[in-house]
Amino acid sequence: MKKAFVKSYGCQMNAYDAARMADVLGAEGYAATDRVEEADVVVLNTCHIREKAADKVYSELGRLRVLKAARQQAGHDTRIVVAGCVAQAEGAEILARAPTVDVVVGPQSYHNLPALLASSHTKRVVDTAFPAEDKFDHLPARRTGAVSSFLTVQEGCDKFCAFCVVPYTRGAEVSRSVAAIRAEAEALVRGGTREITLIGQNVNAYHGAGPDGLIATLPALMRELATIPGLLRLRYTTSHPNDMDEDLIRAHAEITALMPYLHLPVQSGSDRVLKAMNRKHDGETYRRLIARVREARPDIALSSDFIVGFPGETDADFDDTMRFVAKIGFASAYTFKYSPRPGTPAAERDDAVPEAVKSERLAALQGLLDAQRFAYNADFVGSVVEVLVEKTGRDSGQVVGKTPHLLTVQIDGPPSLIGTLVRVRIVRTGSNTLFGEIAADAAVAA
Ligand code: 5AD
Ligand code: SF4
Repeated sequence: MKKAFVKSYGCQMNAYDAARMADVLGAEGYAATDRVEEADVVVLNTCHIREKAADKVYSELGRLRVLKAARQQAGHDTRIVVAGCVAQAEGAEILARAPTVDVVVGPQSYHNLPALLASSHTKRVVDTAFPAEDKFDHLPARRTGAVSSFLTVQEGCDKFCAFCVVPYTRGAEVSRSVAAIRAEAEALVRGGTREITLIGQNVNAYHGAGPDGLIATLPALMRELATIPGLLRLRYTTSHPNDMDEDLIRAHAEITALMPYLHLPVQSGSDRVLKAMNRKHDGETYRRLIARVREARPDIALSSDFIVGFPGETDADFDDTMRFVAKIGFASAYTFKYSPRPGTPAAERDDAVPEAVKSERLAALQGLLDAQRFAYNADFVGSVVEVLVEKTGRDSGQVVGKTPHLLTVQIDGPPSLIGTLVRVRIVRTGSNTLFGEIAADAAVAA
């Protein structure tokens, strides 16, 4: 049997695309493998968001060149595919830079993968079109049985933050219809999925065709999906503060399946920097928004993204960010050093922050956010939480799952718990994982 190895970098949108590419290849008779050396097709689903992410693809391609030659010697053909956002951004440049690559395919055209692979035997091919047809209409049914699955409901971004490549690599905002999303969600649940995370580059700007012919918003979509029997949990990510409207905030109070977790990137706590970033919100707007969300759902776990060292960021600006973080309090957060991206307005600026200063600020901010995260996690010790068990743990006899607040919990228990909700008493916390034991009344739902 032919085998395919698909490796994904970057965000959840990419993880979803990678799963769908595996579906496409699966329908063509390729079995998925996690051993690259036995793969007849290797797909690198790349990320372009920061320079480091984009560089990874070329070092990986260097290794693949050697592997491909070794397989060739043994009489095996290997097709190398570069997909994702580097493919979209660099297109044919990749073929010039990496002679080992056979196919370059963008995030909007990977449903064409079988045809592209076939023609690559005569000529190396590039397909980075934004085709008129919808790739979702051409993808095979989902084959995953993962307990927790991603489902893309929206793609692209119209916001044009000054640092960000997404509007260029993923294009303008497009939303899928409620009917198409519901059908995919039902297929996932039939395959064993109990939790769905609705994903989109700007998911809370979702406005898809509704069943009544009217436009449905994200809360309307979630109300619809919450009626699917067997679907226990809903989440969504990633959101922009300006699209967080009253109805969506209310959804956090009203939809039982919607988990108390919100990832809402703020990027900086300095109004001057937020303006230069073209974020279209200031710190106070964000703070008030969070206060409203916390009123609707007092236990919401708040997560965010931060960039340090945006061009022109002063010590005073950075202090504003530190004060802002101290004031709001985050359960978790991702922090990044600013990385200039070709084609974005910020990359044109000549007031870059020195690398050493970026590193210092990153360490300070991470220190503060880590302290908040540890305190947040420690608060759960002694309490009983509902864990959706997703998989077996590292040691046999252990399983791992997530709390409503998206914390990972390890418990002693049999694999038969996978896919069920279990009441767990948290006994201690590690740096990234909580450890718990099954509370007396065990499973609460299937
Ligand atoms: N440099 C550093 N971080 C970036 N992000 C987006 N673009 C850049 C960049 N040029 C971060 C933002 C975004 C997250 C996905 O990646 O914080 O929310
Ligand atoms: Fe990276 Fe953005 Fe592409 Fe996701 S959408 S893979 S974060 S560049």
